[in-house]
Parts: sequence; structure tokens; C-alpha cells
Amino acid sequence: MTPDLDLVLFGATGYTGRLVAEYLATASKREPLRWAIAGRSRDKLETLRRSLAAPVDMIVVDVLDGAAVGAIARRTRAVCTTAGPFAKYGGALLGACAEAGTHYCDLTGELQWVRRMIDTHHERARATGARIVNSCGFDSIPSDLGTWAVQQEFIARHGIPADEVTALYGETSGGMSGGTVASGLQTATEADHDREVRRLLANPHALDPDPDAIPDPVRDEAAIGWNRDLKMFTIPFFMAGFNTRIVRRGHALAGFPWGRDFRYREVMSTPASARGLAMAVGFTGGMAALAFAVKRPWLRDQLAKRAPQPGEGPTPEERARGHWKVRFVARRDDHRLRYEAGDRADPGYGSTAKMLGESALCLALDPLDSPGGVVTPSVAMGGRLLDRLRRAGLTFAPAG
Ligand SMILES: NC(=O)c1ccc[n+]([C@@H]2O[C@H](COP(=O)([O-])OP(=O)(O)OC[C@H]3O[C@@H](n4cnc5c(N)ncnc54)[C@H](OP(=O)(O)O)[C@@H]3O)[C@@H](O)[C@H]2O)c1
Repeated sequence: MTPDLDLVLFGATGYTGRLVAEYLATASKREPLRWAIAGRSRDKLETLRRSLAAPVDMIVVDVLDGAAVGAIARRTRAVCTTAGPFAKYGGALLGACAEAGTHYCDLTGELQWVRRMIDTHHERARATGARIVNSCGFDSIPSDLGTWAVQQEFIARHGIPADEVTALYGETSGGMSGGTVASGLQTATEADHDREVRRLLANPHALDPDPDAIPDPVRDEAAIGWNRDLKMFTIPFFMAGFNTRIVRRGHALAGFPWGRDFRYREVMSTPASARGLAMAVGFTGGMAALAFAVKRPWLRDQLAKRAPQPGEGPTPEERARGHWKVRFVARRDDHRLRYEAGDRADPGYGSTAKMLGESALCLALDPLDSPGGVVTPSVAMGGRLLDRLRRAGLTFAPAG
């Protein structure tokens, strides 16, 4: 069947989905786009469609209806989805895209679900040519595409890739939505009930084609440290347990172009001052308390009751105050490169709407030559996506 649509956005009526729909509506005035918003509630879709300042089709569908999402996957070049938790709602749609040869992007940070999708659909997607790209938001584009961009710059300057890249997540401000909380709790609940999930979450190469192939993996940071290149305190970063696995999967899928010994680490950073040290101690303690709480069903229920509910998230004013910055340090022998990525928008929503929106446009409209499979943003879209994000106002550039 010849696709009559370029792109279908699932989850469009949710908190993040609405922001992505607004982003695509504005983008469709620059780039001709035949697109549709999809959701399970006709009324919510109608309200959203009326609010968008651009023509868009509307599809009423339940993402759990395999036959219906299969028919939609066959009539579009690409699918973009924010219908999460993905472990609850995502499998049928991702599988339908792999089967139909339809490109796909999402916002998941649910590691155990991504592993299941790799095991179930990677080979089929390779055969059909479908680029199935998880984690096209703040998890994990800054890490994945950032590291790729750092290596391009390092090679251009020094003729060889860095054998070590550290990403330091620094000055960042943003809020959290109900779907993000529900997805985090979904992973915690699965880990509670399943030893295999716990084992997977602890494996630094959990998303590699072969998770057990590296005998001496880089372990996640567990304590406060010091970065001598940037002269900043470093502390464990709660998203590193997902982002580092995406970066390592991308490197493995690309055939280890930076060497089998390449090391990628990810931390948070605070300034070299008494206040910076106090922040480091405070964050580390807070994160340890949160990790303790989500492992206890009763405390997890209390957290779920007090946190934002599905459909809720930061106010427009809160989003407007948001920003994020990641500093990269790349090294090999005496060679050093400092690099920065960032945006003047809140990471999880304003900036994520740009990252996911541009990923969807890139998959739907750009001439890409990457193979199909369950891949990462840098593997599927590399320089094309980098150019798009820079045009959208994100920074990816050498520093100093
Ligand atoms: N990677 C990142 O940086 C990042 C950033 C933001 C969000 N996220 C992730 O994105 C996901 C969405 O978060 P959110 O806060 O936007 O969630 P949300 O507001 O709860 O939205 C979820 C969407 O899924 C839809 N949905 C649920 N079940 C469905 C079904 N059976 N059929 C059709 N649609 C269905 C909901 O439809 P209704 O409107 O009808 O309820 C809603 O549109 C979460 O997994 C979150 O972790 C990731």
C-alpha cells in the first residue's frame, strides 16, 4: 500500500503529545507534511485539532488494538508516539511499524521494555527497513547524539576518535509530568517482581546486541567525585542508567568505530565551591532516598498519589523558566576536546518536543541511508538530526 500520510502522532492528547503536536503544526508551515494526530478519545482529539494553527487529520484508535494500529502503520511513512508508559501501551504499535517497514520514534526511558523490543523486533525491522528509534527526547538525545557529535569534532581535529568521553549534566531546570512518573514507577514495579529485570537494569551493556559480551564494563558512578578537566564536583546521575546503555548500543550497532575499548561515562556536575559541594551532597542524599522509596511498594504508592497524574505536568510559566546544559570532555592520549550541548527550554517538555518533533520529521521526510532495526537516534539519523536540532535552537558546539 502506498502511504497517504507522512507522519502519525500517537498520544497526541497527553501532556507531552500536545506539545509535540503544537511543534509539528508550526513546522508543517515550513515543511509540507501530510500528518495526523491519533488518540483514543474523539472529543480530546477534536479539541486539540481546533487549537492547532495548521490543517491535520484525526484518527481515533486504541493503541492496544493490534489490528487497528497495524492498518495505520501501513498507511504512513513514519509514526511518532508519546503514549506511555511504553511497557503498558507501546508494544503493539512498535511491532506493527517493524512489520510494515514504517519508521518509528518514541520517548521511552524504560530499559526493560526497550530490551524486549530489541529481542522481539530488531531482526524483522532490519528485514523491512523500518528504523525503530527509541528515546528521542531528553532521554537520550543529548547523550547519544551529543557523543556522536563530539566524536565527529574530535576526529576532524585529531584524525582519530577519543577513547573516553564523559558527559557532565550541569545547570538544568525543569519539571515532571504524570506520564514520566508513571513510567518510572512502572519500571520500579517490574524490577520488584522480576529478578531478570533487576539484573538487566544493573548491566552497563543491557542494550548491546549481546549484553554479556564485554568482560570488563564501565560501572555507573556510585559516589561524589571530581572532574580534573572541568574542575567540578561530579555525582551519580539518575538518568545515566538508561542513557549510557543507549550510547553503548549505538556504538556497538555502528560496528565499534571508536574502538572496542571506548569508555562512555555520565554524571551530574556541581561548581567547585562550598555551595557546589553542598549541592553534591544534597543531590546524592536525595537520590539515594528516592531510590530507597521506589523499591518499597507502600512508599511507591504514596509517591504515585502525590506526584502529577497522567495528563498533568509543569505550567507554561514553569516550562518557560526551564533550561539545560551538558558538558562533554573527550580524551585520547594528550588530546582533549571540550564540547557543550544545551537549550533555553525545559528539558523534559519544551526541549523534548523539539527533539522528538525533529526526529519524527527527519524520519518522515529526510533522505536517510541508515539500515533498519531497533536503533538509536545517532545511528538512524546522525548529521541530519544534528542539523535539524541546531536549526531548532539547540546548541551542539565545541566549548573553549
Ligand atoms: N524521554 C524524555 O525526555 C521524556 C519526556 C517527557 C515524557 N516522556 C515519556 O513520555 C510518555 C508520556 O508522558 P506524558 O506525561 O505526556 O503522559 P500522559 O500525559 O499520561 O499521556 C499519555 C498519552 O497516552 C495516551 N494513551 C494511553 N493509553 C492509550 C490507549 N490505550 N490508546 C490510545 N492512547 C492511549 C493517553 O490518551 P488520553 O489522553 O486519552 O488519556 C495520552 O494521550 C511517558 O512514558 C514519559 O515517561 C519522556
